Amino acid sequence: MTMTVKEAIAARHSVRSFTGEPVSEAALEELLEAARQAPSSLNSQPWRFIPVTDEATREWIASSEVSRKQRWLAGAPAILVCCADLEGYVRDTQASAFFYKENKIMDEEPTQGVLDYAEREEKASETARFGASAMNVALAVSFIMLRAVELGLGTCWVGMFNEGPLKERFGLTPDQRVVCLLAVGHPDEPSVPPRNRKSLDEIVLK
Ligand SMILES: Cc1cc2nc3c(=O)[nH]c(=O)nc-3n(C[C@H](O)[C@H](O)[C@H](O)COP(=O)(O)O)c2cc1C
Repeated sequence: MTMTVKEAIAARHSVRSFTGEPVSEAALEELLEAARQAPSSLNSQPWRFIPVTDEATREWIASSEVSRKQRWLAGAPAILVCCADLEGYVRDTQASAFFYKENKIMDEEPTQGVLDYAEREEKASETARFGASAMNVALAVSFIMLRAVELGLGTCWVGMFNEGPLKERFGLTPDQRVVCLLAVGHPDEPSVPPRNRKSLDEIVLK
């Protein structure tokens, strides 16, 4: 399917009903490739993904323990567990900052600003580091959602989940935090429900 970005943005909506057709390995790779190309602060790329396709794990994700029994999730042939690597975020932010300095990529003051930023992130609380890295992960997930539309796939961002059981099941370290679950599959919808959106007047501050 060839479409413009504008068309993909207009067509994207949260899909919670899927055909039984699996999402191919090649399609999943295309989605992750889109994530790889997303922008990130100081090119830190703190996103990490766990693709889940096996039925038992999807059933478990759809249980009350993980997602407050969002049963429709079990019908998604693929679920991406989208994580932020807080340790990697700080490390790669610093590496970029030093690279900027060594290679005199920017003038003196902005270079110092970048170094200050990297130092601040190192000392920041976990909550602050999670907020900053989750922002980057969210951008990557947006890229995935739009690329999925182009591939004829539907997605839904799931923010209602219990992080503890997910971390345990996937063996995540304390620095690897779950940002969202992304359901992916071939849409099975009789019609697309109308979406309510705020007007430009409501979102543009004067
Ligand atoms: C941060 C966030 C959390 C969300 N959590 C859930 C969720 O747990 N379950 C769900 O079914 N949809 C969830 N959604 C999807 C939203 O309900 C949906 O994006 C919104 O209603 C707008 O509809 P649209 O995506 O079709 O445009 C979430 C979306 C975002 C961005």
